[in-house]
Amino acid sequence: MEKIIDENKQGDSLVLDQKKDNTRKLYIESYGCQMNFSDSEIVASILAKEGFNTTQQMEEADLVLVNTCSIREKAEQTVRKRLEAFNAVKRINPKMKVGVLGCMAERLKSKFLEEEKIVDMVVGPDAYKDLPNLVAEVDEGRDAVNVILSKEETYGDVAPVRLNSNGVSAFVSITRGCDNMCTFCVVPFTRGRERSRDPQSIIEEINDLWNRGFKEVTLLGQNVDSYLWYGGGLKKDFAKASEMQKATAINFAGLLDMVAQAQPKMRFRFSTSNPQDMTLDVIEAMAEHKNICKYIHLPVQSGSNRILNAMNRLHTREEYFELIDNIRKIIPDCAISQDMIAGFPTETEEDHQDTLSLMEYVKYDFGFMFAYSERPGTLAERKMEDDVPQDVKKRRLTEIINLQQKHSLYRTQQHLGKVEEVLIEGPSKKSDAHWMGRNTQNTVVVFPKENYKVGDFVNVKINDCTSATLIGEAVGYSDNN
Ligand code: SAH
Ligand code: F3S
Repeated sequence: MEKIIDENKQGDSLVLDQKKDNTRKLYIESYGCQMNFSDSEIVASILAKEGFNTTQQMEEADLVLVNTCSIREKAEQTVRKRLEAFNAVKRINPKMKVGVLGCMAERLKSKFLEEEKIVDMVVGPDAYKDLPNLVAEVDEGRDAVNVILSKEETYGDVAPVRLNSNGVSAFVSITRGCDNMCTFCVVPFTRGRERSRDPQSIIEEINDLWNRGFKEVTLLGQNVDSYLWYGGGLKKDFAKASEMQKATAINFAGLLDMVAQAQPKMRFRFSTSNPQDMTLDVIEAMAEHKNICKYIHLPVQSGSNRILNAMNRLHTREEYFELIDNIRKIIPDCAISQDMIAGFPTETEEDHQDTLSLMEYVKYDFGFMFAYSERPGTLAERKMEDDVPQDVKKRRLTEIINLQQKHSLYRTQQHLGKVEEVLIEGPSKKSDAHWMGRNTQNTVVVFPKENYKVGDFVNVKINDCTSATLIGEAVGYSDNN
């Protein structure tokens, strides 16, 4: 499961098979993080109640929505290009309306309507429940905008419609927004302040997924470790909560315990962890429950203390190592992945070497690596010059990627000869005779199909590997079926 969807790739078009008095057709494309894909399922659910049936053919759509990403400039350019493509379709189908959702909608607000003539509707990430009204406005020939950020909205009461699902794994969002204010990051501006979702509604969604045959859930949040339920409201207002609310509050470790016990045969993953917020009780909860996968996505961004400080990442390199050591001590076979940014303002060759040496220490299983992209409105954009030349950024990024590739191979080789439990997700992309699934560490495993089927937990003997994939053969069902 890739966290960042390749922004060059055309977004997935999504099909909704829910039937109503389907008079109108909705086409929806999603870009960016998993949260956006999950939000599109909420949007499809809200619009299904308005009689919209999804289609994969943009040409026949009455409403075309694009759920956008602002994280790097390239992500925004991809969306602009898609709007051009929508324009061509609109010439054939003039009745088609176009709405922009997600982070670009929040960032650009009504400016979008001026900049892109094709856009009829701009809807920020906390305003999806207003879609029925906004669509009605558009129907009457007016442009519609709602980019109000909320203190409470978690969409906990909306049952998402699963789009493009493999029927095995699903995303469930547990928090929205982020309070961390990393100086390079646009997310706190586009997704607002952090708030957590009622654990009861999380459990209900998980139970419902289990009853419908799903076997794996990834709990989603910009910063899952700071999950905190005390009855609703912003995380930053917790200090003002009553003594009773404080005494009964549930943190992320508590939530992990709850979900693991609610569905003991279901696998749980989560993303994303922030090193400064991850506590030992989370790692202990992972160790305690067999059904919580042994994998942590733990972005660090840089190995240099000076750069970490300039990024407002509130931990040092040494504290990060301490966290890694604790993870390895408590869960020796835990996989760890990273996000890295090459060429943050003022980054020197020495800072870059610190990043490479941090990687040598951790030897991540995999990673998502980016060249720094200046984002309007962030502290880095306002206070720092984007002063690392493009070719230097690129060269450093290549060195980081090459080193990661070496470590990925080192990590996949550690699985050779072992028998590992794999949950089958679907056919292998490369061969129809093989299944593809993942082990607990989130590494992709392919093996001959035999009589197994999608959704089975199978023990697979690992015989071979590349830096990204394990290749094996099934030796029987695991005891989790
Ligand atoms: N906590 C979030 C992080 C979202 S952004 C989560 O759920 O994953 C994902 C990654 O994009 C970050 O970890 C960072 O490595 C990268 N990123 C964010 N802003 C960036 C920027 N301005 N330039 C380059 N990469 C960036
Ligand atoms: Fe962005 Fe930092 Fe939050 S990367 S999403 S501000 S943890």
